Amino acid sequence: MATLHAAYALLSLAPLLVVSDPPVVYTQPEQVHLSYPGVPGSMVVTWTTFNSTDSLVEYSPWGGRLFDKSAQGSATLFVDSGSEKRKMYIHRVTLSDLKPGSRYVYHCGSEMGWSDMFWFKPLDDTSTSPSFALYGDLGNENPQSLARLQKETQTGILDAILHIGDFAYDMHEDNARVGDEFMRQIQSIAAYVPYMTCPGNHEATYNFSNYRNRFSMPGQSESLWYSWNIGPAHIISLSTEVYFYLEYGQELLFRQYEWLKRDLEEANKPESRAARPWIITMGHRPMYCSDDDQDDCTTFDSFIRRGRNDTKPPAPGLEDLFYLHGVDLELWAHEHTYERLWPVYGDKVYNGSTEDPYTNPKAPVHIITGSAGCRERTDKFNPNPKDWSAFRSTDYGYTHMQVVNRTHVYLGQVSDDQAGKVIDSIWIVKEKHGYDAWL
Ligand SMILES: [Fe+2]
Repeated sequence: MATLHAAYALLSLAPLLVVSDPPVVYTQPEQVHLSYPGVPGSMVVTWTTFNSTDSLVEYSPWGGRLFDKSAQGSATLFVDSGSEKRKMYIHRVTLSDLKPGSRYVYHCGSEMGWSDMFWFKPLDDTSTSPSFALYGDLGNENPQSLARLQKETQTGILDAILHIGDFAYDMHEDNARVGDEFMRQIQSIAAYVPYMTCPGNHEATYNFSNYRNRFSMPGQSESLWYSWNIGPAHIISLSTEVYFYLEYGQELLFRQYEWLKRDLEEANKPESRAARPWIITMGHRPMYCSDDDQDDCTTFDSFIRRGRNDTKPPAPGLEDLFYLHGVDLELWAHEHTYERLWPVYGDKVYNGSTEDPYTNPKAPVHIITGSAGCRERTDKFNPNPKDWSAFRSTDYGYTHMQVVNRTHVYLGQVSDDQAGKVIDSIWIVKEKHGYDAWL
């Protein structure tokens, strides 16, 4: 009987005796990526840990004594809004006084765990011919272009990557584990060159919080809109999503518009245009496209192009703003296709000439490049495109851009379906920039 009592007593204690999981400790850095803060000789390193650690980068010139320099930054706690309220620490360290032209090796983390070793070339502010890969709509699943981008990045032919919205599909899913996995996938490119971003509609959940927390773009807008200079180009990144998610604050649309206006005015000052003749914009949803879906860009009164009349006050669109400020080139994604437009304004074509449409064009040039690869596959085209549609492809791929000098920009479309073949290319040649170039 005594034994039975003892057994019952033990059973009643059972819930207390259950061995709980050991405390979870994840101090290993992961999801390492670079961004350019807009200050020559600088680079920002961003990464994630799941427990709090210091934020250190150790680095050194390529070929020198390893890690003889170090820089410290800080971490912010990001709590995902999913049901598990997962926590992660986003670390940011700014490296400065880097010598352009030379390569650096680095690792990041803390005494509680270091990343693999990566390398990068600081951007040369005066670099005459920066090269880019650009695309949008790259997912965690079916990221078809990623292997080619990994090889190109690691062979050193790119100075920066522009990811024009829509990441991971979607970063918030599975309590943000899809975001973690995607950021691990792109570490293979984003830890080597600045990975410059803008938000797309797939980032919208929980008010773009995964996007705003995981990236580190220049300026004070939580990576939503900003501009930066590289070689002869001024690049403006913007959120087209402010036109669609009014529930997150209609004032964002107007704040961005005012910021864009000021930034364009500054970029158009004679001394600015003399130093940076090219003004290039990137935003996720295009103002024109000829896809066979019901997206904004398929409508004549596209919100992005013409604004919205159902807001108080009415919200201005971007076409007039960009045209009046002489934007040279507008990069878009969202449509899972590639489309090159003839120079266009107000739904009309303004080619430079019949023989050389892109030599001294009389309106901005638009490129839509949203076919990097994602679970939604590629889109279909409308069989009857408008006059402004110059070339279209439904191949998976991405775009190369080189701002060669003050007068020449090269654009080429790489088809991943066709083993890297360049299926379309143009040179934009401009002897004159700014609004006067249209006249
Ligand atoms: Fe999109």
